[in-house]
Amino acid sequence: MTSNFCRLGVAGLGTVGAGLLNFIAERPDFAPAGGRVVVTGVSARSRSRPRPVDISNLTWFDDPVALATSPETDVYVELIGGADGTAKASVEAALKAGKPVVTANKALIAEHGGDLARLAEANGVPLLFEAAVMGGVPAVKFMREAMVGDDVQSLAGILNGTCNYILSEMETTGRAFADVLADAQRLGYAEADPTMDVGGYDAAHKVTILAALAFGYAPNFSAAQVEGIDQLDLLDIKLAHDLGYRVKLIASAKLGADGVRVQVHPSLVPLDHPLAQAGGALNALFVESKRIGRIFLQGPGAGAGPTAAAVAADIADVMTGMVRPVFQKPAASLQQYGSVDPSDTLVRAYLRFMVKDEPGVIAAVSESLAEAGVSIESFLQKPAGQTDGVPIVMTTHSVAESVLAAAIDQIAGLATVLDRPRLLRIAQI
Ligand code: HSE
Repeated sequence: MTSNFCRLGVAGLGTVGAGLLNFIAERPDFAPAGGRVVVTGVSARSRSRPRPVDISNLTWFDDPVALATSPETDVYVELIGGADGTAKASVEAALKAGKPVVTANKALIAEHGGDLARLAEANGVPLLFEAAVMGGVPAVKFMREAMVGDDVQSLAGILNGTCNYILSEMETTGRAFADVLADAQRLGYAEADPTMDVGGYDAAHKVTILAALAFGYAPNFSAAQVEGIDQLDLLDIKLAHDLGYRVKLIASAKLGADGVRVQVHPSLVPLDHPLAQAGGALNALFVESKRIGRIFLQGPGAGAGPTAAAVAADIADVMTGMVRPVFQKPAASLQQYGSVDPSDTLVRAYLRFMVKDEPGVIAAVSESLAEAGVSIESFLQKPAGQTDGVPIVMTTHSVAESVLAAAIDQIAGLATVLDRPRLLRIAQI
């Protein structure tokens, strides 16, 4: 489609939808080809809910599928969210009707991206989702367009602004997790269901999409190993800092001989690494490729302005006729990557044990690690506080996850160990 006049049907009028309508009202000529963009129809859960945008002149659709297939809709913009339900039904309907689709829906693309890419390419229309990953940071275009001349080997990023905000605030203010989460919700970073954020699933959706683009596969969300920040203790954030690390929710993907490994974990990042310095609600991405080497992107990953800018950039691509395969290769030939057995993964670990403050305890813990073949890299013990136990921390050299898990189980059974040992991974970046 190359067009001088583009009529949008926009479904979903939350933060991003309202931001997009306001942007288009202000800059209807934003597309580089010089054409005009107008919003003709809208759909959302409630028509009457107060919003920071006037929709009284737009045609209202109760059903997003009807909006997606309306003759007045040239491009369907899906901002409803969620992997299934009306978001999926309306995107499928638009593609089948030969309408280009622009979406910010990471769950939809991560969970059904391969099928939707096939549908889009069979119908000869673009399916674009820049706003699905890292909000205003052009990570999707970067992977899909800029990196075609290279081979990405690995990527690691901070892809969830809510978690980054929570971790940064916990570290700098010493406030509790729940308290800081309430702030993130108020500031509009968090998803409607914050377990998507703090459980690591939002970051997992995003890294699944980046992995598919980087390595030329269909996304496979079920292959991601996901751990969130909801079980993280403030104590570990403090102790990690004493050891020269900052705890970040790191989403990573690596191409190896055994396939694509996609992981999300709260991880220790050296304080001087650029990923450790992306504070607040910022998103950041660190990529290693064969020819270019190391690349770092950083910026706002959420919010009305940045995310609407990413949606608008996709609309501009539709208007200028830019159509590329959705995931680097023609969709009909796309394969889904398989899952890698996490027990073989080599990790460097931070282990924290809450132990009784009495003779021989450290020796017993180290002996169990030595017997399992886990080599200790550094050790930290803090004086006993007001609690019953005293924390001891060890960082390890590289070791298989399965070996580490067996050693932790054994140590958890020692009478002098008061609590389940805590394991955090040291990011390999
Ligand atoms: N809840 C997401 C975040 C918003 O916190 O990053 C953008 O996907």
